[in-house]
Amino acid sequence: MSAVIDISPLDQFSLEPLPTGDSCLLVIFGASGDLTSRKLIPSLYNMACVGCMNPVFEVLGVGRTKMTSDDFRAKMREGAAKSSDTSDFNEQHWNDFAKRLHYLDGDIEDAKFFASLRDRLGEMGQAAKTPNHLFYLATPASADAGIIEGLAGAGLNHNDQGWSRIIVEKPFGHDLKSAQELNAVLHKAFDEKAIFRIDHYLGKETVQNILVFRFGNSIFEPVWNRNYIDYVEITGAETVGVEGRAGFYEETGALRDMVANHMLQLLALTAMEPPIAFEAEAVREAKVQVFKSIRPMTVEEVAKRTVRGQYGPGEIGGKRVPGYRQEPGVKPDSNIETYAAVELYVNNWRWSGVPFFIRTGKRLPKQSSEVRVHFKRTPQALFSTTPQDQLSPNVVTLRIQPDDGISIAFDAKRPGSQMRALPVEANFSYETVFGSKGPPAYETLLLDSMRGDATLFTRHDEVEAEWGIITPIEEAWAKLAPPKFPNYAAGSEGPAEAEALISFGQPADKAGDHRGWRRLA
Ligand code: BG6
Repeated sequence: MSAVIDISPLDQFSLEPLPTGDSCLLVIFGASGDLTSRKLIPSLYNMACVGCMNPVFEVLGVGRTKMTSDDFRAKMREGAAKSSDTSDFNEQHWNDFAKRLHYLDGDIEDAKFFASLRDRLGEMGQAAKTPNHLFYLATPASADAGIIEGLAGAGLNHNDQGWSRIIVEKPFGHDLKSAQELNAVLHKAFDEKAIFRIDHYLGKETVQNILVFRFGNSIFEPVWNRNYIDYVEITGAETVGVEGRAGFYEETGALRDMVANHMLQLLALTAMEPPIAFEAEAVREAKVQVFKSIRPMTVEEVAKRTVRGQYGPGEIGGKRVPGYRQEPGVKPDSNIETYAAVELYVNNWRWSGVPFFIRTGKRLPKQSSEVRVHFKRTPQALFSTTPQDQLSPNVVTLRIQPDDGISIAFDAKRPGSQMRALPVEANFSYETVFGSKGPPAYETLLLDSMRGDATLFTRHDEVEAEWGIITPIEEAWAKLAPPKFPNYAAGSEGPAEAEALISFGQPADKAGDHRGWRRLA
């Protein structure tokens, strides 16, 4: 892009204070895990600091690891001090906050444990004076059903004095069948309104901004369809590898870890019809309609319209890094994909024939999550001095992270006596305009669950519809011969086949007509 125009807010702006959550006891299952110290506790600490935490609020961490509440506080302190989600770590605020942290160890497979949990919550509720219970399952999907049944067995799924809600972390099940089974177990114990299936991408400001951009402005909606849009490119690129999560990743892979949830949510928000209101049922219904319009792929379609990759050794940011198969805990002949690219079609009136290309991968050269909406070329070559294939088609880029914002690429007249065009970009940056990126995703979502607002959580039929798209791909991959892994070097753009997938068979050097992924390096 040759030039950049910056955008500033038209109105005066100041950050609004966040609303306050209900009083509650938050029980975190999987409290000794990485998610709790890296994401959940930092978000709760931030909430306490900015005052949106109800003064009546206690956390009970639950895990198999034997430790005292003081050990738990020390472990959480270490995580919060290091976490990039912690806004402003300071000793005095931490010490005030840490008084709210408690720990209970036990075996979640033992029914007696849930009786002791009930007793502990009874005591804590009396002391703190709150009847409300919020259960957070930060556990592997395979442990979820047992915990839900354990809670129900101890009568903790109902609450006559207040409310009892449950948050279930992703991945929600492992495939369509296990997601259906998990939904059935949940529905036996909890009302759908009390169930909060989390996909942290929905808590990101920039992801929610897709809705504001599309439905808060009237200029984009008339062109947001197959008549004007050529294709949509959705990227979730990371520089990190598996980061000590080999056990989880060997069971999951990139398709289940990122596409089945985060990437599909980005697609749904980009493609959905305007909901009748911004409230849980209407928003979720509109997204479910998008997922239901994506036909499950046959094995032949999967062979043509998907690409899997696994990174080999390479270089990232000037540092040598090992290949996936050399990571601790990974099988030396593992065929798990660390990269996935998929071409999907939303078969409805608005989107018929428009490909949505999704790619995600670990150990790519740059961290970048974004949605790029590519518009069609102008139909006529009006400016003879600018060949038609040198006019750049318009692209709207919704940048989720980093450098959160939106840019719109268009052609402008190049100064001079000739009618020659030059591509320019209007750029809106969250941080420049608002001086802040807004709260981290988990903060928003924890607060919403404490307030009982499920708009940014996925509904039972929504997760099943997501798996309805993903499971046939997983099944076809199991039938098709795996690619020769590793097929991309750490630090490269990903497998070459992914370029071929998006370029519609056009050679990369055919000027003008080339369609492709935005380069990451
Ligand atoms: C998680 C995945 O859900 O999302 C991780 O399990 C991934 O593998 C992470 O790294 C990416 O989240 P974010 O917010 O850093 O883009």
